[in-house]
Amino acid sequence: MKANIGINEANSHGVANALAKLLADEFVLDTKTRNAHWNVEGPDFHAMHLFFESQYEMLDDIMDGVAERIRSIGHYAPATLKAFLELTHLSERSDSKNDSMGFMKELLADHESIIIFIRENINKFASEYNDAGTSDYITGLMEQHEKMAWMLRSHL
Ligand SMILES: [Fe+2]
Repeated sequence: MKANIGINEANSHGVANALAKLLADEFVLDTKTRNAHWNVEGPDFHAMHLFFESQYEMLDDIMDGVAERIRSIGHYAPATLKAFLELTHLSERSDSKNDSMGFMKELLADHESIIIFIRENINKFASEYNDAGTSDYITGLMEQHEKMAWMLRSHL
């Protein structure tokens, strides 16, 4: 059944398409953070193993929220690895030598690029697509990424 929430089809499509890219970015970043959790090595192993775990747990919740936001405005969420790789702005390539600093630098750059993408869409969603709800939702999401980015940045 169609969502009758006062946003026309073209506008909700515009929002859903941007959210699909964001979901793909969150999925890839979640996987990259798990990579860091699993494969980090060095004298700081234990602390870093736990730190990356706390970060991917936050990303798990974010990812779920973005997918459900897409459903809330009447569209289907992309949910295959193939679709995520086609949609994401992020690169899976890793330069890290499995050291915590290398992982942190990469993850921080990814968070910052997601923050910039979200910021570009906050006003657009509200003014261009008439979707104040999703604009508000991604504003909160941006703040969560800003906090996670701060935690990564503080190690560097
Ligand atoms: Fe684990």
